[in-house]
Amino acid sequence: MFGSIKNYQQDSNVVSVDFDQGQVKIEVITPSIINFFAQLTGDNPNSKAVENLHIQPGAVETRMFDGKVEIVSEKLRILVSDDFTVDIYDLDGKLLCADYRGEDHPFIRRGGGQGLELAEQEGHKFDSEKDAQAFKIKKQIFGDTYFYGLGDRTGHLNKHGYRYKLWNTDDPNPHVESFETLYKTIPFFIALNDDTAYGIFLDNTYQSIFDFGKENSDYYYFSAAGGNLDYYFIYGPTVRQTVGGYTYLTGRTPLPQLWTLGYQQSRWSYTPEKRLRQVAQTFRKEQIPCDALHLDIDYMDGFRVFTWDKNKFPDPPKLISDLKKDGFKLVTIIDPGVKKDRNYPIFRQGLKNNYFITDHDGVPYVNRVWPGDALYPDFSAPQVRKWWGRNLRILLDQGVAGIWNDMNEPASFNGPINDDTQFNNDGHVADHREMHNAYGHLMAKATYEGIKAETGKRPFIITRAAYAGTQKYSTVWTGDNQSIWEHLRMALPMLMNLGLSGIGFAGTDVGGFGFDCTPELLARWTQVGAFTPLFRNHSSIFTRDQEPWAFGKKTEAIVKKYIQMRYRLLPYLYDLFYQGQSNGLAPIRPLLVNYQNDHNVYQTNDEFMCGDNLLIAPVVEQGRISRLIYLPKGDDWVDFWTNEIHEGGQYVVKNAPLDICPIYVKAGSFLPLYPVQNYVGEKKIDQLTLDVFSFSDDGTNGYRHYHDDGQTFDFQKGIYDLYDFIQEKTGKHLKIKIGYLRNEYQPAYQSFKFVLRGIHPTKITVDGREISDDDWHRGKDDRIVVDKGTQEIDIDLS
Ligand code: GLC
Repeated sequence: MFGSIKNYQQDSNVVSVDFDQGQVKIEVITPSIINFFAQLTGDNPNSKAVENLHIQPGAVETRMFDGKVEIVSEKLRILVSDDFTVDIYDLDGKLLCADYRGEDHPFIRRGGGQGLELAEQEGHKFDSEKDAQAFKIKKQIFGDTYFYGLGDRTGHLNKHGYRYKLWNTDDPNPHVESFETLYKTIPFFIALNDDTAYGIFLDNTYQSIFDFGKENSDYYYFSAAGGNLDYYFIYGPTVRQTVGGYTYLTGRTPLPQLWTLGYQQSRWSYTPEKRLRQVAQTFRKEQIPCDALHLDIDYMDGFRVFTWDKNKFPDPPKLISDLKKDGFKLVTIIDPGVKKDRNYPIFRQGLKNNYFITDHDGVPYVNRVWPGDALYPDFSAPQVRKWWGRNLRILLDQGVAGIWNDMNEPASFNGPINDDTQFNNDGHVADHREMHNAYGHLMAKATYEGIKAETGKRPFIITRAAYAGTQKYSTVWTGDNQSIWEHLRMALPMLMNLGLSGIGFAGTDVGGFGFDCTPELLARWTQVGAFTPLFRNHSSIFTRDQEPWAFGKKTEAIVKKYIQMRYRLLPYLYDLFYQGQSNGLAPIRPLLVNYQNDHNVYQTNDEFMCGDNLLIAPVVEQGRISRLIYLPKGDDWVDFWTNEIHEGGQYVVKNAPLDICPIYVKAGSFLPLYPVQNYVGEKKIDQLTLDVFSFSDDGTNGYRHYHDDGQTFDFQKGIYDLYDFIQEKTGKHLKIKIGYLRNEYQPAYQSFKFVLRGIHPTKITVDGREISDDDWHRGKDDRIVVDKGTQEIDIDLS
């Protein structure tokens, strides 16, 4: 496609290479992140994903030899050859990634002829390789390579052998492993081979294909139907660093409001108002914690966005303020489709100001969604994003606390949206083929900016469609799953891959959306939900009730136990979001993020890490009451329920009756905990509890805890507290040190309670003073309370 290299020029961190046909640019963004770019279309609009990029290239050296251009950064050596083929080495000479030079070589698919026709008549569908491709980049597969990422694809954690089509799609059929498309486009993956990881991010919003050795086992490829060739190579060598690099480019999940980590209850739909109030009252009566209730489409007047159905909800501000008194926040759904109705102000405003996407002749384009004929706001125009943000005031002024964006692939009931519909694209007019995959992302951006301007608080948004970088603006959920065990099983790899794709704040519809849930499934799904950042139970119209109490007392007790556990874990989860701002890691992650040296975990689908300290091995199979769990090498693991310690690098069998979700805590951890509350803010928290899980042998480990107001952006002005808790175990002695790194937030904690899990001291001294029985509570787990300001606790062990 490019021909032979003619020459090259270096302009600081950017190297331009001239080929017989065209020029390419290789830009060193950081020593580990390299951008490869060739302009294939006339226009080069700004990236939707990469905003405010900070370029820190370090030293870059370039030379030409044997007809190749060599670029050396402080971490990588890149060789560019004829036809813009690229090979990348680390500085020890290890080949990390190499273009595949051969021709396309799809596996032979035998059959065809009449047999194929007959099979198609029966409804069988067969893969086709007919997708239009403006370019196709093939890279060699070396031996055992594992592929991760691409957002929430169906199937398993490792994507080797599968192919995906990135074209945001609302397909109501039950999601299965062979689905090629889903709601989101996150064209980023990680390749892990021989302990070394790198990532590739294709920043292209057109329909793209990622084929990880499905076409042929010798190569993987990515291609797109249009746009520029614009991809980043992101070197690890750890998966952690690769995710860090990707989120350096596309942004990190911001710190959420604390209540958004509470439990949320939704359904299509809680109407009328009386029903919603009933649900709220039942939560409080049953003392099941809950922070947010969601209103689905039926709260609107004929599905007109930014309106209320006044028959079902006569006085929204009163309803919302009553709910608020009981500690509930209200989240309302907003779809993009604006009903075509001349009596509807939002439609009239949009039409008058040309805010809707148009056909190629500039006539506003109409398709059909819930409200019937509807028009699509053009979120790619800055003035439309502003208008949308201002419209949100209508809801926010009434007290709505968060916005749930749905149908923003965008979905269309009257056939696909025409390819040639026109979008403003920040002044670089583009058509639907280019803008489709960015639509939900831009709607999320408009919503984020609108809420932030209006409330000054950290915006809470949920979106179904997304593009790379959406994590900066919104949380996501995995869309319309079903109340089937396969979808609980699949929730784990989906969430883990979303996390590896930069999306930290994510969840599934707990209990399943379509189909009827069962008591056992709700219990098991809630156990997973309790560790999932977005913890929302949602279900479809016409399904049976799915609230925690809907399946009788036994199920209710289990569901309640795990929702309460979630509230205890809030400071831990919040700390993970705090950490995520600097490392880009999601709270939920596959074991390989923490244990990359242990090859046994490269394909672990049914266990996950929640942060660095917790390993969760939920039961995701009907009828199962025990399960096999792999505990990774390098650490010891404490059974959360029994305090029993297991060495890592082995399988253990855990009895897991319906009320037990197997949880293991890394030995040497602190787990910060709050008391159970019915909602965030119910109790004044002036004491932080820390469960202490010690080492079986000697060891040292620390934990950093972050504390702020949980709502505003004041932390950006430095108003927060930061603590370090350190444990040092030597022989029969355990020392706990408390470091006060920052002390700016009020009201601060007054004291710390240490719960010594499975540890029984013979003597405890606090800052050199032996403590009395009043401060030392003996029991299954001994506990001690110390005032803020305490520096050091010395514990003699029996
Ligand atoms: C879509 C959403 C679902 C919602 C329904 C009605 O199917 O994915 O969550 O309940 O629309 O708004």
